[in-house]
Amino acid sequence: MKKKIFSGVQPTGNLHLGNYLGAIKNFVALQEGNDCVYCVVDLHAITIKQDPKLLKSNTLETIATFLASGLDAKKNIIFNQSSVSAHSEFAWILNCVSRIGWMNRMTQFKEKAGNNKENASVGLYVYPTLMAADILLYDSTHVPVGDDQKQHLELTRDIAQKFNNDFNCDGFITVPEPLIQKEFSRIMSLKDGTKKMSKSDPSSQSIISLNDDKENIVSKIKKAKTDSLPLPSTKVELKDRPEAGNLLGIYSNLSENKIEKTLTEFKGKNFSYLKDQLSALIIEKICPIGEEIKKLLNDKNYLISVLNKGTERADLISSIKLKKIHEKMGFLS
Ligand code: AMP
Ligand code: TRP
Repeated sequence: MKKKIFSGVQPTGNLHLGNYLGAIKNFVALQEGNDCVYCVVDLHAITIKQDPKLLKSNTLETIATFLASGLDAKKNIIFNQSSVSAHSEFAWILNCVSRIGWMNRMTQFKEKAGNNKENASVGLYVYPTLMAADILLYDSTHVPVGDDQKQHLELTRDIAQKFNNDFNCDGFITVPEPLIQKEFSRIMSLKDGTKKMSKSDPSSQSIISLNDDKENIVSKIKKAKTDSLPLPSTKVELKDRPEAGNLLGIYSNLSENKIEKTLTEFKGKNFSYLKDQLSALIIEKICPIGEEIKKLLNDKNYLISVLNKGTERADLISSIKLKKIHEKMGFLS
């Protein structure tokens, strides 16, 4: 059966291997045979202070990354969130459906707000209701995301169910399923295998950016943290070896092989052998994407035309749903 797919990526620059392997690569696979909506979530980005000029260029870069990774602008709806007003309007309604206790459990808020919660934006706190609005406006059945978004997806399901209960309209809001890879769904920092690879990491050495050139990739992988043992032969042995697990996981994911096959390939070998093979594979798979991003960024008019077309299509679908939502709420139109 055709799935209705929705996912979003923040235009906060520096998209990396974690974004690609955890999310964007799946977006590309799902475009065959499904109805897909992919959104650059600029309203989510501003929950943390952004430089307006940079936000604009990062939005274009995120669109360029979608296209360079293989998303077809005709097959999929590709747009930016702030252009379609139904997202913020529905988010407000969902703020009134959601409970403060639910928000208080969100670990991403705790991580992003850090020690100074009093000074975090209110937007950062209600970030998950906007995410729920994104997904639920399109009657999405499946949401491909990296492992770090699992809790937000569970919350989205709770919000959908509560809306249907509160307004006595079972099935009106579709309760979506997360699509999260089973193995190595979280790509970790090259400098610390227990921390996720993240745009906000102060050390650029910990991430492989999709824009990195060959020399950069070789040097970052060469300097990636390791341990002192030879590479293991079983998954069980990977348990307490986060760096080995991460590098082998990246290799498996990029080579489209199961981890068991990768373990067989590298068992007993040392890290430097794995690093040579891994660098070559990253260069083969990622550098062409980086080059295509650069090319696309030279044609801003084309990128804007993709956004405009996507906005028109997203606006049509979401405004119809929002109108029905208003009826359920009892708003006079
Ligand atoms: P963001 O850049 O936070 O908007 O994330 C965009 C997508 O990339 C989301 O689906 C995230 O779950 C995914 N993602 C971000 N970082 C990682 C990571 N280190 N490993 C796997 N997926 C990730
Ligand atoms: N919160 C997601 C992230 O940080 C981005 C996002 C916003 C999203 N809206 C979404 C992802 C809807 C999936 C579906 O990565």
